[in-house]
Amino acid sequence: MALINENYLKLKAGYLFPEIGRRVNEFADANPQKKIIRMGIGDVTQPLVKTVLKAFHNAVDEMGSASTFKGYGPEQGYAFLREAIAKNDYNNRGINVSADDIFISDGSKCDTGNIQEIFGFDNKVAICDPVYPVYADTTVMSGKTGVCDEKGYFKNIIYMPCTDENGFVPELPSVKADLIFLCYPNNPTGTVATKEELKRWVDYAIANKSIILFDAAYEAFVTDPTIPRSIYEIDGAEKVAIEFRSFSKTAGFTGTRCAFTVVPSTLVAYDEGGKAHPVKPLWNRRQSTKFNGVSYPVQKAAEAIYSEEGKKEVKAVVDYYLQNASIMKQKLSDAGFKVFGGVNAPYVWVKTKNNMSSWDFFDLLLREAGVVGTPGSGFGPSGEGYFRFSAFADRDSVIEAMDNVTKLF
Ligand code: MLT
Repeated sequence: MALINENYLKLKAGYLFPEIGRRVNEFADANPQKKIIRMGIGDVTQPLVKTVLKAFHNAVDEMGSASTFKGYGPEQGYAFLREAIAKNDYNNRGINVSADDIFISDGSKCDTGNIQEIFGFDNKVAICDPVYPVYADTTVMSGKTGVCDEKGYFKNIIYMPCTDENGFVPELPSVKADLIFLCYPNNPTGTVATKEELKRWVDYAIANKSIILFDAAYEAFVTDPTIPRSIYEIDGAEKVAIEFRSFSKTAGFTGTRCAFTVVPSTLVAYDEGGKAHPVKPLWNRRQSTKFNGVSYPVQKAAEAIYSEEGKKEVKAVVDYYLQNASIMKQKLSDAGFKVFGGVNAPYVWVKTKNNMSSWDFFDLLLREAGVVGTPGSGFGPSGEGYFRFSAFADRDSVIEAMDNVTKLF
């Protein structure tokens, strides 16, 4: 008799974004004339920039010639890309990250989920509430939790509420957490963490022998120079933190797929006897067994982001989305909404009007304004009564969507 992984039965029926897609498609089928503006899932709309596209094409051509053809690549990713990342994202900014500690992958979503596998079942996992649903769902899938209660909280997960009252900055957990997911700039609230706030977490992790799983997928949106773009800007983080980064939102790679994870050689976790083991060889073992890497043309395309031209072109795209966020924030604030995020981040987080539930607000906006966003409650119980708009959209659509929404109130 084949047995299922019963942890999957503990999950809510569908993952958040496909569930939104399902509802939107249902509405679109019933209302074929209605224009729908999609600001739900954070999926980019601007095309790959010229320099990236050229490198991509050239690399595809290389694959068509016997003398330059590539088969399996190095499991950690090609050195040319790992070295470009180490130099440009870290070393040139005074951050000590070695190319040897970088693992190229096909996405931060995959990596933040897959990383769970190299850690024991008995780890207590702490996550913010609301949170990017992948952290909670993969913690459940990996067997580290009990069942979900009626409020939507899984037993054995340590939830750290992020609310208007605490400025969306979580308190340190009162019970000991072994693995701590943090995401800054934050998805979904669009808020950022200061150096001092991140230092509290690094100090906590050092004191408790915990590991911080730091999702920095949106670091390119930070324009304030005082806000850290990497956890490794904090002294000691190299001993207690793994960092996840992605080219999806920064360079339009959501469909192209390329990301990376930094697992410092100095990072350790412990066996049951309390003996320390470096984590990097475990991740290397996992990746080299289960993953054959990102294609050569995609890695060449990603490398081109770090050329002088590539940097300028990509920055212009990031600025475009940031300008969208700023327009959204302004229009929603002018209409009397309580608005968070949208600065140093591509997400705008709003309190719904008239105490509407997140899903009621979703239905209203879809039906009356033809606008799709993401219900805050989909990110966790503390997101109830909030709503997320993504700035990854075309400018005209952003303006039209905000006008349609604000007209309703
Ligand atoms: C989001 O909308 O939260 C993200 O686009 C989802 C993702 O990156 O997987």
